Amino acid sequence: MITPSISKFANVTKVTTHVLQEMKLKDEKIAMLTAYDYSMARLLDKAGIDVILVGDSASNVMAGHTSTLPITLNEMIYHASSVVRAVKRALVVTDLPFGTYQGNSKEALNSAIRIMKESGSDSVKMEGGSEILESIDRILCAGIPVMGHLGLTPQSIHKFGTYVVRATEEKEAQKLIEDAHLLEKAGCFSIVLEKIPAKLAARVASEVKIPIIGIGAGPDVDGQVLVLHDMLGITQEFSPRFLRRYSDLSEEIQDSVKAYIKDVKTVDFPNEREQY
Ligand code: KIV
Repeated sequence: MITPSISKFANVTKVTTHVLQEMKLKDEKIAMLTAYDYSMARLLDKAGIDVILVGDSASNVMAGHTSTLPITLNEMIYHASSVVRAVKRALVVTDLPFGTYQGNSKEALNSAIRIMKESGSDSVKMEGGSEILESIDRILCAGIPVMGHLGLTPQSIHKFGTYVVRATEEKEAQKLIEDAHLLEKAGCFSIVLEKIPAKLAARVASEVKIPIIGIGAGPDVDGQVLVLHDMLGITQEFSPRFLRRYSDLSEEIQDSVKAYIKDVKTVDFPNEREQY
């Protein structure tokens, strides 16, 4: 658990969208990480993380796909319900997967309702700005909190063509600023800004009143998010500049498995104390 010397919100028993707003007002940075299963979510929650994102990055990290596009609504509900069962304090945000909200606002509402009802998630996240405003409006009208996501939006990778930094050109930067204001006005409780210039992210965070969470968006935003398996060093192939690795679990896990294999082969395991 985080101590009160690190966080003014250490004693909060449940992080809500209102707590995140308070954090922005009181200049406390919001710490967010992804999780997709019960065991990891439990560890993150015990450590005092503010927000857990059940990201559609599960498509890459958990299922081995090369993009976030293939993951289904049922699969997201499975991951989210596993996470929810573990979490006491953190706010849980679940991604609406590709194809479940873009074209049709009624379908978007049904998808969001399924996530809330069947997983117990606290909120949903959706990628895009003006193009998906009707869907966002409808979901918000049903009382479901929505987190926006602008900048590099991985569900649109086939439109972008690459995962390079977004909004470096004036026109795209301007659209991103307008979209951030639109999402705030619509009633989103927060926005993720992914892989955009730090100056642009800082401008958005100072112009809108809702918390801005960055990933590859510099320090002058209201919080940060990373993909758990990247920051723990479980995934090794992915090394963007913005990623700080806090562990090298890939090495540690492989070393442990190698030691186990050796112990089994040499009949060192189980020993006398490890049997009945
Ligand atoms: O799915 C995900 O993990 C995300 C983060 C990269 C913000 O959307």
